[in-house]
Amino acid sequence: KNRIAVMTSGGDSPGMNGCVRAVVRKSLAQGCESYCIYEGYEGLVRGGDLIKQMRWEDVRGLLSEGGTSIGTARCKAFTERPGRLKAAKNMIDKGINALIICGGDGSLTGADTFRGEWPGLLEELVSSGEITPEQRNEFQHLNIVGLVGSIDNDFADTDATIGCYSSLARICESVDSIDATASSHQRAFVIEVMGRHCGWLALMAGVSTGADFIFIPENPPAQNWEDQMCGIIKKHREFGKRKTIVIVAEGAIDSELKQISPTQVKDLLSNRLKLDTRITTLGHVQRGGTPCAYDRQLSTLQGVEAVMAVLDATPETPSKFIAIIENKIIRSPLIEAVALTQEVAKAIAAKDFKRAMDLRGPEFAE
Ligand code: F6P
Repeated sequence: KNRIAVMTSGGDSPGMNGCVRAVVRKSLAQGCESYCIYEGYEGLVRGGDLIKQMRWEDVRGLLSEGGTSIGTARCKAFTERPGRLKAAKNMIDKGINALIICGGDGSLTGADTFRGEWPGLLEELVSSGEITPEQRNEFQHLNIVGLVGSIDNDFADTDATIGCYSSLARICESVDSIDATASSHQRAFVIEVMGRHCGWLALMAGVSTGADFIFIPENPPAQNWEDQMCGIIKKHREFGKRKTIVIVAEGAIDSELKQISPTQVKDLLSNRLKLDTRITTLGHVQRGGTPCAYDRQLSTLQGVEAVMAVLDATPETPSKFIAIIENKIIRSPLIEAVALTQEVAKAIAAKDFKRAMDLRGPEFAE
């Protein structure tokens, strides 16, 4: 009998709960046993009460809840082999032979490493007498499927990560709220948004709210960006615009790869353009709250597909993640997408910004 466990890992994102609900219910509907691993990889390493068998009703009401109700953590122990050995033992104790992880690229890469090491880990557990040779034979293959949960939308080979549209909507609502004061007082606001090394949230928020200027890591501004930005904003003001909104991605850099800070932008607007300027850092407000309809749908469809991918997998199947491309939910090789995701950072470090933009996808080019 298949025993499928689901876990959330890395930063929480709206829609992770929808994944948990869909995986649990689809597993049960397919006649499998379902388990939740609480607190991410921490739970896998610590085992015990942190690995719980789930019933249909245990995930009731989760679809509309933000964050992840089964918890998440950044776990150092799992990055080291002894931690992974404990994790393997805990899984075998519970009879779990498949793991579905909803998390970012780091969490999904960790899962694939675990799968690669699995036969060696089992041998070690047999040698130390922690599992029997029969158990090793029964649990020979570990099945891994990834779901990409992150507000950053920074994963290659999928159009959207679970949570990015909820976060984008929340950023837009926040900018709309700031607009009231900006227009009333004719102020300028420099708004910092999250995204780690990815500018998707900043770019899409800027387009969606009609921002005056946007800073993202993949396409740093021209060398004379101070003159350029001030020129544009001055022109907008001359056209009668009463407010100024500049969006800065938290990973924004200039063409020399130096970080662009909201304070630097604020000082420029205050000193050169004499605008009454404030900084708003949206912070974790943009990661919380209820998931939008799109993330509820995406997490449900992808959670269901993840269970089907587990049931269809053979020992030879490379680890998969569930993507959405042009509105189709598909299974894609995990490791290629992770490698492609890392290419963006390499392109930026090499100052090949055109390649960085191309790798991010068509929305960036447009
Ligand atoms: O990956 C999601 C994210 O919110 C990033 O946008 C941000 O850089 C990071 O996590 C913040 O992490 P933490 O909540 O651990 O400070």
